Amino acid sequence: MVFGLIFVLAFSFVQCRKAAVVPTGLVTDTAMVVSAREEASAIGVAILKKGGNAFDAMIATELALAVAYPYAGNLGGGGFMVYRKANGDVGSLDYREKAPLSSHKDMYLDSLGNVIPEMSTVGATAVGVPGTIAGVFEVHAKMGSLPMDEILQPVIEFAEKGVVVTKNQAERLDRYRDQIIAVNGEETLFYTKCVEGDTLYYPKLASTLTRIMENGRDEFYKGETAKTLAAFIQEKGGFVTEEDLARYEVVWRQPVIFKYKDLRIISMSPPSSGGVTINQIFKMIEPYDIGDYDQNSPEAIQLLTEAFRRAYADRNYYLGDPDYVSIPLDFLLNDRYLKNRMETFSIAKATKSEDVSHGTVEIIESAETTHYSIVDAEGNAVSVTTTLNGAYGSKLYCDELGFFLNNEMDDFSSKPGVPNMFGLIGAEANSIAPEKRMLSSMTPTIVEKDGALWLVVGTPGGSTIITAVAQTILNVHEFDLSMQQAVEAPRFHHQWLPDFIIFEPEGFPESTKEALKAKGYLINEGRTPVIGKVDAIRVLADGRLEGGADPRGDDKAVGY
Ligand code: GLY
Repeated sequence: MVFGLIFVLAFSFVQCRKAAVVPTGLVTDTAMVVSAREEASAIGVAILKKGGNAFDAMIATELALAVAYPYAGNLGGGGFMVYRKANGDVGSLDYREKAPLSSHKDMYLDSLGNVIPEMSTVGATAVGVPGTIAGVFEVHAKMGSLPMDEILQPVIEFAEKGVVVTKNQAERLDRYRDQIIAVNGEETLFYTKCVEGDTLYYPKLASTLTRIMENGRDEFYKGETAKTLAAFIQEKGGFVTEEDLARYEVVWRQPVIFKYKDLRIISMSPPSSGGVTINQIFKMIEPYDIGDYDQNSPEAIQLLTEAFRRAYADRNYYLGDPDYVSIPLDFLLNDRYLKNRMETFSIAKATKSEDVSHGTVEIIESAETTHYSIVDAEGNAVSVTTTLNGAYGSKLYCDELGFFLNNEMDDFSSKPGVPNMFGLIGAEANSIAPEKRMLSSMTPTIVEKDGALWLVVGTPGGSTIITAVAQTILNVHEFDLSMQQAVEAPRFHHQWLPDFIIFEPEGFPESTKEALKAKGYLINEGRTPVIGKVDAIRVLADGRLEGGADPRGDDKAVGY
């Protein structure tokens, strides 16, 4: 009798947990794109409907974001793509920016060895060699199915037809207007103030994309566009030359792949720190059954914070461009090492970051990246995070070509031990060298469950990207939230140094913070920003797709 009751209770508990995972985001039968702007998602979906695959849609979405969302979408930046084909093959493409040939370790230091303010963050001196056009052409050459002009034509038409300014976009343009004018002068396109509902037209960008469509990848790296771009950057005092552009190459890399319980997680390898750090985090928490706690309860936050602390201490010290530094991945991702790393964890009180080696370096990165997720009709999945680094990158806008240029050079450690714009302290592994790639936190990720495609996920957010992606996956897997709920859920962040927890402004009760403070946790009490804008897709048990589009931005899922 008692046994029977226990069985019924246990069964109904399981039923309750299962019943909770009802989709709350957009659900479609066949294919989906989720990105920072509805127009970019729609252009990606139009390519899919025409018979294009996820890789064709990646190209269209990537470039449409340069039109619709120049805050982070780009031709003048770079990114990472993680993919999983319908047949289960996985891989990743690194089209991250590179340091110009004339770069050197101390290029942002004055004669006394101090970091020169703004030199790696604002204007032409901050610009790394862009990788985006090389990235999309490489994707097309290896995986595309439609002709390039069929993919690019709708993006060109979009740039000509113009994009309607949203409330968020008007606020952002207003916030950065003075800085954009300071860098570019009053002749710049962005001198004119715009308000919600205005239309922004990009005829110069349309011309640049048309030349690229007609002449191919080399137009950007060796042709008229390359000459104009290099001359422009140098005239403004920057370092990128025609030779830098001509030498730029993307790299196919083996993604970081690991198991967490019944999941197989595929994420970006160095020069992004995303995959390695998220692998460490999941393996450190795996023995503790976080799902036994409530989502965002003090105990769940505590366990994750301690894993974040330890993983970021390693991230800042060991990681850099694998083509330049030897990264001890076997050691960093070793199960025993990660288990030992948590030996000092106690649910009774906070660990102090100063007691966690390896840390001599803090991280600071820009939060203004963007992410999009795509699943096509065949079941191919693409997870892409792309960036200019800061908001509108270096703020340097090439009016003749119609796009912003990155300030990715700031993602290097200008001086090991000195924080970058995200507060991340870099080490020797991430010091500047000619043609080296700067360390990133971008974490485009794909998750398999029981051997099948399950989640496609990623976010902007600088150093908070990795912890936001981890929380989103756990929200679905451990806390039984739908994809949309998982994306909407309030997030927190800890990155080893500075040694405090950042909570989003809404969604964490004072009682939770008090419980953590009582255990010795320091909390950033200032007004904190939102953490990430996660755009994700979940494959439901019946094969349909649920989008998770982040309401923190104008992000939107579109599909059919
Ligand atoms: N610039 C942000 C990142 O690469 O993580």
